[in-house]
Amino acid sequence: MKLIFLGPPGAGKGTLAVKAVEILKIQQISTGSIFRAAVAAESTLGLKVKAIMDAGQLVDDETTIALVRERLAMNDVQNGFILDGFPRTIPQAQALSEFSAIDKVVNFDIPDSGVLERLGGRRVCRKCGFNFHAVFNKPKQEGICDHCGGEVYIRDDDKPEAIQKRLEVYREQTAPLIDFYRQKGLLVDIDARPMVDEIVENFKKAMGL
Ligand code: AP5
Repeated sequence: MKLIFLGPPGAGKGTLAVKAVEILKIQQISTGSIFRAAVAAESTLGLKVKAIMDAGQLVDDETTIALVRERLAMNDVQNGFILDGFPRTIPQAQALSEFSAIDKVVNFDIPDSGVLERLGGRRVCRKCGFNFHAVFNKPKQEGICDHCGGEVYIRDDDKPEAIQKRLEVYREQTAPLIDFYRQKGLLVDIDARPMVDEIVENFKKAMGL
């Protein structure tokens, strides 16, 4: 199955993607995680995108499309994938349609208040990328990942001014994709407000599993 997870920042796309890849036995491709790994490695790509990401802006379409095109050509995704955080603009969606056919687009529906609550409390493992939350899903030991023992930190783009910018960018550049994919008959809406286990069940029903 070839899926896109679409939704505002902090809607829970990455959290559900981790569960969904186990259920569907497919790969998660998170453009945000790929960019964060590049920043951590201080690669040429990382040096180029760090300031853009910290400010809550989007990386340019050309760079992002080239990265996804290359990733989707790899062998491990030929049976399916979840694109988590791509496409984010109409040009990205148009480019994607030239190199991959998508089965469904899962649209995470959540009000801004939910986004602010989730991003305000998000804690992430620097090593394995697992998402915790200061209230809803705390690591067993403060500051240490339950899964790999890595350091749990607050993402630079989870600072209040960057969160506001990301929401603005989402409304202007990404939200138009909802109609773009609805018109193509690919959109499946998911209520992203409940706790994770309920969302997983609703996702399975929506996928006919
Ligand atoms: P990216 O990493 O994709 O960020 P995002 O879309 O803003 O999404 P998030 O990772 O913030 O949120 P999420 O929806 O995955 O929520 P999560 O599961 O973590 O992108 C980062 C940056 O990279 C962008 O700003 C941009 O600069 C660049 N970039 C990436 N893709 C790009 C593209 N295509 N084009 C251009 N630039 C691009 O959950 C959030 C929190 O809530 C966690 O703490 C979690 O534990 C908690 N939580 C999740 N679900 C629930 C639930 N059901 N109940 C309670 N708590 C929950």
